[in-house]
Amino acid sequence: MSAENQAQFAIRFYDGKAKTYNQTWHPDYAQRFSSYLQLSAGDHVLDIACGTGLLTFLAAHRVGSQGRVVGVDVTPSMLSQAKTRKEINEDAYSHVEFYEADAMNLDAVKELKKESFDMITVASALVLFPDPQKVITHWVTFLKPGGTLVVDSPHPRSFLAGMVLERTCQRLKLPIPYCRCWSTSEHALRQVLEDVGLEVEKVITLENQSGYGRRCYEDSDWDDHFVEKVVLGDVARIFADPETRRQAQAVFKEEWENMAVNGRVEEVDSVFLGIGRKSTDPQAAKTMLSGGCRCGNIRYTSSAKPTDITNCYCRACQQLSGSGFLPFVHVPTYALKFTESSTLKKIKLSHVGERAFCSSCGSPISMVYNDSLNSNCITMGSVNGASLKDAWPKVTKHIFLKEKAPWTILPDDGAPRFDGFSDGSPPVEAYAKPQ
Ligand SMILES: C[S@@+](CC[C@H](N)C(=O)[O-])C[C@H]1O[C@@H](n2cnc3c(N)ncnc32)[C@H](O)[C@@H]1O
Ligand SMILES: [Zn+2]
Ligand SMILES: [Zn+2]
Repeated sequence: MSAENQAQFAIRFYDGKAKTYNQTWHPDYAQRFSSYLQLSAGDHVLDIACGTGLLTFLAAHRVGSQGRVVGVDVTPSMLSQAKTRKEINEDAYSHVEFYEADAMNLDAVKELKKESFDMITVASALVLFPDPQKVITHWVTFLKPGGTLVVDSPHPRSFLAGMVLERTCQRLKLPIPYCRCWSTSEHALRQVLEDVGLEVEKVITLENQSGYGRRCYEDSDWDDHFVEKVVLGDVARIFADPETRRQAQAVFKEEWENMAVNGRVEEVDSVFLGIGRKSTDPQAAKTMLSGGCRCGNIRYTSSAKPTDITNCYCRACQQLSGSGFLPFVHVPTYALKFTESSTLKKIKLSHVGERAFCSSCGSPISMVYNDSLNSNCITMGSVNGASLKDAWPKVTKHIFLKEKAPWTILPDDGAPRFDGFSDGSPPVEAYAKPQ
């Protein structure tokens, strides 16, 4: 789904839901969501994709009449429920405002000033946007320094048929009005918040979001879900063409069966809730790179742009990577922050420096040389590519080629090649020949 038609899609999707929306599980969930908001009287809150205003009104009670709560949504029928509720009780809600706008372009709402909100809330909506980092970066411009963003994203096994539908649409290159495949764990949500430069206060899992707890289906139950989601629930008319629907049916079945373990498909009624704070230090506000280990127990951010990549072919790098070499990207020590490090294990394998890896999953993370403590060499494999925002550093050196395994073929990338370290010794021409 392109960013341009996301709003139109959302309107088609939610228009028919508006009338009965407040009779679903959403009001209970909004109560739970609001219990995590650290609000004070007088605070200013922006509730993005506010829908019928469930959370907006709860926030309004918390900040009191000295505060200000603004709800923004793109679907007129959802918003009109909210506006009616305000009109009915204008005295209590005089400090509440609603605007119809696309959350991807809040600059169009002249009443919204940059850096003017203490808190931004986004409940049950982040995965409706095609690029979470991009849209959050836009939202955060409306937060005061020190303000918080509170946002949720679904557990990968919640609303399972929706997940299966997304995978089906991805395979068939069909548009779908949400994008939740990135939301695989608490860590994934944390990563998104870190990527946009927020200091993550916490990410937690809320169970029993919509009241069913956990439930199991047979792997043969796919048909019921297909009928419910695709045949009856196709409000966005993605599958209107019979041939498309026929293809979707086969892929849906396959994807549903892929979810099965021992013939059973489990649905988990959980949601991840994340709270991130905008830094008061304008320098620190920008995360230029983030990453971590495979299991997620180690995570880091860098406020400085990573520089070049060095590929090291030494024997230790071969053994630690289980491969021909380890690529390292260089990050200044002052800029590097380990946001999670419970399993970070440091180890000296030689007198030249110290390596770090995850003692839980074994991922190699970094190397710091004794004679250049102000620079960290971070393993490229641990870097989260999305955080680089397409500004990939280049490989500028191949080092320790005297220890290179004969089966490793050097890339023809023009980067200088060295016998050992690159410190002062000239590049070695011999390695420039095809290996
Ligand atoms: C599941 S509802 C959540 C509503 C509310 N936050 C709640 O917790 O009840 C998702 C809402 O996102 C809104 N939405 C989707 N795309 C949007 C966009 N581009 N701009 C503004 N709102 C959007 C929809 O109109 C819908 O009201
Ligand atoms: Zn790990
Ligand atoms: Zn090495």
